[in-house]
Amino acid sequence: MILNVNGSKYEVQEKMRTLLDVLRDELGLVGTKEGCGVGMCGSCTVLIDGKPMAGCLLLAEQAVGRKILTVEDLQNDGSLHPLQQAFIDERAFQCAYCTPGFILSTLALLNENPNPSEDEIREYLSGNLCRCGSYQNIMRAVKKAGGSR
Ligand code: FES
Ligand code: FES
Repeated sequence: MILNVNGSKYEVQEKMRTLLDVLRDELGLVGTKEGCGVGMCGSCTVLIDGKPMAGCLLLAEQAVGRKILTVEDLQNDGSLHPLQQAFIDERAFQCAYCTPGFILSTLALLNENPNPSEDEIREYLSGNLCRCGSYQNIMRAVKKAGGSR
């Protein structure tokens, strides 16, 4: 089967593995992290046709014919995406294990709603957990990237 990841097509052998496992183990895209493995933490978030989804809950086969975006695609010729830069500027992480998932969920949020309120940010990012408790800095980074109101 063929997966469309970050604008490139990849031949993938195992249909019955999760998308998370295929991304990490077959394609070497280890920016997508495994936390809980059961859909509770958001660290494995990828965008599927622009919507955040948990890679640990999807079989790779379910993503065939859809556009998969991982955190690796955000940089551009070695330059960070403004959202990545905002997370650095606001020190929106400690261990950073949750960061790729937060950044991809935020990207989807800002594509839908370029200027979200704090409540809208909290609601949209409620599926992403940070065990280091960096929520205040994450909120600042998201507001900085999106323009707060
Ligand atoms: S690893 Fe997928 S939601 Fe936690
Ligand atoms: S920065 Fe460590 S889990 Fe979020």
